[in-house]
Amino acid sequence: MRTARAVRRFRPDPVPDDVVLACLEAATWAPSNANLQPWRFCVLRAPEARVLLGRAYRDGWSAYVDHFGVTADDLVGDGRRARLNRSMKALSDGFADVPVYVLCCVQPQPGESPFDTAASIFPAIQNFSLAARAHGLGTVLTTWYRSVEPELRELVGVPEDWLLAALLPVGYPVGGVGPVRRRPVDSVVGWDAWD
Ligand SMILES: Cc1cc2nc3c(=O)[nH]c(=O)nc-3n(C[C@H](O)[C@H](O)[C@H](O)COP(=O)(O)O)c2cc1C
Repeated sequence: MRTARAVRRFRPDPVPDDVVLACLEAATWAPSNANLQPWRFCVLRAPEARVLLGRAYRDGWSAYVDHFGVTADDLVGDGRRARLNRSMKALSDGFADVPVYVLCCVQPQPGESPFDTAASIFPAIQNFSLAARAHGLGTVLTTWYRSVEPELRELVGVPEDWLLAALLPVGYPVGGVGPVRRRPVDSVVGWDAWD
């Protein structure tokens, strides 16, 4: 958990199917509302999907640039934000080198709150990420499928009553995978009260 950082730079080395499947099996060990396991994971490697995802990743990066007002200066230096910006750009530029993409889908249940729907897929995604880390792989949760969602749904054949939850690029990381950096735990915990 401590070193399962967001990985956005991948070596082009292929990832064996059985390793992908082992990570997906770990995903299926997650909890879900009433244990309905309303998930489906589509492993995407084919050229048609890659063309589409290339477009999606370019759009994703450009939406990020617009949203956060990223300028060329914001890509330079050693600061945290600059490093995150470069990492995002590297993912967008390097989409073609990503060995495997996993599209994570969830089927909302009748009368279920959106929280419960989300909580029935994101723990599985986290399990996947941790298993990937344990296998020496890296990944990052992205929503960079949205600009091509209709085409992607059609290409993959996603039924209408299913939602796309995340697109995970998966591969062996370039460079080391350092520890995560987070706010100190004391600053986010209240004992017997909020503060
Ligand atoms: C809901 C959600 C959406 C995210 N969307 C993206 C995304 O579209 N592209 C991306 O590169 N990273 C995305 N991330 C990854 C976050 O940027 C990352 O988890 C965060 O920066 C912490 O990174 P670290 O674990 O390496 O410290 C997303 C994470 C979450 C939880």
